[in-house]
Amino acid sequence: MRFVVFEGLDGSGKSSLMSTLEQELRSKKIQVLKTREPGGTPLGDEIRELILRSHGQAPTPRTELLLYEASRSQHVDLVIRPHLEKNFWVLCDRFTASSIAFQAGGREIAEEWVEKLNRFATQDLTPDLTVLLDLSVQESQRRRQKRESFSGKVADRMESEADHFHQKVRRSFLDQAHKNPHQWLILDASLELGILTAQLQNHLKGLQWLP
Ligand code: TMP
Repeated sequence: MRFVVFEGLDGSGKSSLMSTLEQELRSKKIQVLKTREPGGTPLGDEIRELILRSHGQAPTPRTELLLYEASRSQHVDLVIRPHLEKNFWVLCDRFTASSIAFQAGGREIAEEWVEKLNRFATQDLTPDLTVLLDLSVQESQRRRQKRESFSGKVADRMESEADHFHQKVRRSFLDQAHKNPHQWLILDASLELGILTAQLQNHLKGLQWLP
């Protein structure tokens, strides 16, 4: 049983890397759950919709933080902990580090508050490993625009923030990773998926989590 979180700017390739790890675990007959934040529960999905929509009244920074934390506590109580207790590996697209990066780093809410609310929402559950897919803001924007022109999907409220906001988010992710090198793995998200998959698998083998 392991709790592994994937973090990074939008377009950093979290979901592709999560899928390759999920397949690898399934091929080894390991039970695995892939989930995400905000969301991961029916109520969390509704909260996600409220946070990310670009129409209607935008939440203030504190309201935004509380909405992410509300989605998180529901997710931890009803999905993440029960699966860990059943010995599943849980792979989660974003978790507490995103609140530090976006709401403390980006929105400039005091980090102590975000940490306190993270602890309250998770009841002190922390990831065994957080994988940071580090990408430049320019490359993240370029990938997003490409995706938008393919799918016709428009940028959500967070994605529409200025470059300066995303620079602060990236810096916060890197600071968090450097402060906690044993719980974080930094990967260069500009590399190809095959290389990133091999780097992640080698790291997990080095930790003796994978045969
Ligand atoms: P996603 O696009 O990776 O699914 O994430 C949704 C957006 O929400 C993304 O722009 C990051 C942001 N976010 C926060 O600002 N704080 C959080 O705590 C989480 C989990 C996500």
